[in-house]
Amino acid sequence: MSRIIFLNGSFLPPEEAKVPIMDRGFLFADGIYEGVGVLDGRLIDNDAHLERLERSLREIRIANPYSRSEWTRLEQELVARNNLTEGFLYLQVTRGVAERDFFFPQEGAPTVMMFTQAKSIADAPAARNGIAVITVPDQRWERRDIKSIGLLAQVLAKQAAKEAGAQEAWMVEDGYVTEGGSSSAFIVTKAGSIVVRPLSNAILPGITRQSMLRLSKEEGVSLEERRFTVEEAYDAAEAFLTSASNFVVPIVSIDGRQIGNGKPGPITQKLRDLYLQMARQPALAAE
Ligand code: PDD
Repeated sequence: MSRIIFLNGSFLPPEEAKVPIMDRGFLFADGIYEGVGVLDGRLIDNDAHLERLERSLREIRIANPYSRSEWTRLEQELVARNNLTEGFLYLQVTRGVAERDFFFPQEGAPTVMMFTQAKSIADAPAARNGIAVITVPDQRWERRDIKSIGLLAQVLAKQAAKEAGAQEAWMVEDGYVTEGGSSSAFIVTKAGSIVVRPLSNAILPGITRQSMLRLSKEEGVSLEERRFTVEEAYDAAEAFLTSASNFVVPIVSIDGRQIGNGKPGPITQKLRDLYLQMARQPALAAE
């Protein structure tokens, strides 16, 4: 069965899913996106993703084309039409098509697009073995809390990581880690506390981060919401990342320095198990 794309109200084969070159997403990166993990054919933490979508749209003043229940129904239909059991749903809303001009167009409607990607999340080798990260300067704009489709800084950061033999880049500002190119960043201290940067305009409010923190609080794991430096990360007992497309992934080296004993740490493993359990049993998810 071939892939089906959602575009502006229609479910289409890829060759028919076309956007005009005057789309403001293409010309200005004038749009926002969301990404939701799919496990056992279910959208994980979808309500929280849709809440963040609503916020991103509000912040850049694009009218939300659908209600939360309409979004959910369309997402579920796309997952079903693609027979997706495990992977990722990407959705994007741009300010639509108009003659190139910086000012918001007076007329027209947003461009709404969604696609899915099959991907193994629960049993991914990265999750079993851990990954390497490098640190790079954070070169992004000041509203990183908005899930903007303008991702050039992240593209360059992640490509630098790949060329260095790593799988993710941790971006650094004023000596402190902000977040990963496409993930939230965590360390675990030698005393066993999780350390994570507090929410602000400096980072994306990660949905997996939020669920994982709720689960770790319920589990009684000690938590420090504060910034951490690169040096502190080098010296940490464990490190890990979270994202909708990977859940919880151990980090076993940073800038070539081994973290802990160079293997996925026990607290990270525990959190990953808890997250997977929650994803598999929707009754455990937050309302
Ligand atoms: N990235 N920080 C950044 C900069 C991100 O791009 C992402 C997600 C996250 C994690 O957020 P969440 O847990 O809500 O996925 C943090 C997605 C997966 C992507 O761009 O593919």
